[in-house]
Amino acid sequence: MRRPSGPADRWSGISVNVSMAGSRTVEDPRLDGRPVKRIAFGSDQISTRVRELGCAITDAYPVGDLLVLGLLKGSFIFLSDLVREIRRPLQVDFLVASSYGDAMESSGTVRLVYDPETTLEGKHILLVEDIVDSGRTLSRLLDLLSERSPRSLEVCALLHKHVAEHLRYPTKFVGFDAPNEFLVGYGLDHAENFRHLPYIASLQ
Ligand code: IMP
Ligand code: MG
Repeated sequence: MRRPSGPADRWSGISVNVSMAGSRTVEDPRLDGRPVKRIAFGSDQISTRVRELGCAITDAYPVGDLLVLGLLKGSFIFLSDLVREIRRPLQVDFLVASSYGDAMESSGTVRLVYDPETTLEGKHILLVEDIVDSGRTLSRLLDLLSERSPRSLEVCALLHKHVAEHLRYPTKFVGFDAPNEFLVGYGLDHAENFRHLPYIASLQ
C-alpha cells in the first residue's frame, strides 16, 4: 500500500526534536495548521521511558492480582504501550471521567461516565492517567476507588505538572515532569484533537 505522505514518517522518533530546533511552527499534517510552541517529548524518548516504567511496575508488584485501570480517553495510548512492558500477569479495565470539556483549564467537577465492571476488592489497583495538573480528577477518583477495598491503590501518570499544592495521594510512578504548558499528543487532546500525535507537543 502506498503511503500518502512520501518518505519515512518524519514525525515519529527523535528526528522531530532535531528537525524542529529553532522553528516556531511544526508542519506536521496531523496538526491541521495549528501552531505548536515546541515538541516537549519525542516518541523515542517516550518509548524509552515507558519501558523503564514497565520495569519499575513489574518489580513493584511481587504477588497478587494486578488490575491496571486506564482513565479514558487520555491514557489510551500510554496504557497500551505500558502494559506490554509489564512482565507479570495483569488485567486491564477502564474508567471514564469527564472534567475539562473543551477548555484548557480544569473545571473542578469530575463526572464518572463509565465505571469498571471488574471488582476491585482485594486487588492491586494501578490507575493509569495521562497527566496530573491540578490533581482534582485524581483526588476525586481515588476517593471513589479506595471505598471499594482494593489491596493497594497506586497511580501511574505519564506526565506530572507538579503544580498541585494539596495532593492527598502521591503519584507513585511518573513518566516525565511536565512543563506548565498545555500539552497534546500521545493520547492528550485539546477539544478531542491531536490525541494521535506520536510525540507530545506544547500548544501555542
Ligand atoms: P487535573 O484534574 O487538573 O489534574 O486534570 C487532569 C486531566 O485534565 C487530565 O487527565 C487531562 O485529561 C486534562 N489535562 C490536564 N492538563 C492537560 C494538558 O496540558 N493537556 C491536555 N489535557 C490536560
Ligand atoms: Mg482531555
